[in-house]
Amino acid sequence: MAGLDLTAIDHVLATTRSVRKRLDFDRPVEPTVIEECLRLAIQAPTGGNTQGWRWIVVTDAEKRSALAELYREIATPYLKAGLGEPGSISAQQERVVDSATYLSERLHDVPVHVIPCLYGELDALPNFAAAGSYGSIFPAVWSFQLALRSRGLGSVLTTLHLPLADRAAELLDIPSGVTQVGLIPVAYFTGSDFKPAVRRPMEEVTYWNGWKQSR
Ligand SMILES: Cc1cc2nc3c(=O)[nH]c(=O)nc-3n(C[C@H](O)[C@H](O)[C@H](O)COP(=O)(O)O)c2cc1C
Repeated sequence: MAGLDLTAIDHVLATTRSVRKRLDFDRPVEPTVIEECLRLAIQAPTGGNTQGWRWIVVTDAEKRSALAELYREIATPYLKAGLGEPGSISAQQERVVDSATYLSERLHDVPVHVIPCLYGELDALPNFAAAGSYGSIFPAVWSFQLALRSRGLGSVLTTLHLPLADRAAELLDIPSGVTQVGLIPVAYFTGSDFKPAVRRPMEEVTYWNGWKQSR
């Protein structure tokens, strides 16, 4: 169909996971592969074609350590609270918390951190403006992750450092009026492939021609 390899494309779409435990901390990541993936990412749409995105690629070890420290300030209590009492969350949620805790403890070892930023103050925006703003960066973030995955690199979108974004801004000379929307740790992944995730069925979350109506 249209000359595209649907099997390969669908596989990438279905198996681009949040990679934490399978990040290879020891294998260097060439700057050129990051640039190649960002070049693809910025093919994504933006409201009014504003392209207000800026991408900060952090490879400097001291800066990665500083980012990891402030990430942990938020993540450690947050993830501890997320576990709750023994047996209070599902096995699947427990795995997510376990994996997120691992990433948090090793974040400084991940060779590349990418911080997507957007021109504008996004706090307290009305819904249409918030949708227009976040909608003008997250499609590109996901394209970036897909492009990485296709080249053997794993990543995970994280947002836990954002309550301390001012300190990250100071560290990275990000001017006021620019909003960080996440931090994406990037490394080559270990092992060969990933599986599709178990999600609620499409039919259960899709309505036709009206709320809760089926086809
Ligand atoms: C908006 C958003 C914020 C997220 N923030 C974090 C985060 O701060 N730390 C983290 O380890 N994972 C974070 N995740 C990853 C989710 O935990 C993950 O997508 C979810 O568990 C499903 O797993 P999967 O991506 O492998 O399918 C975030 C994902 C999204 C979409």
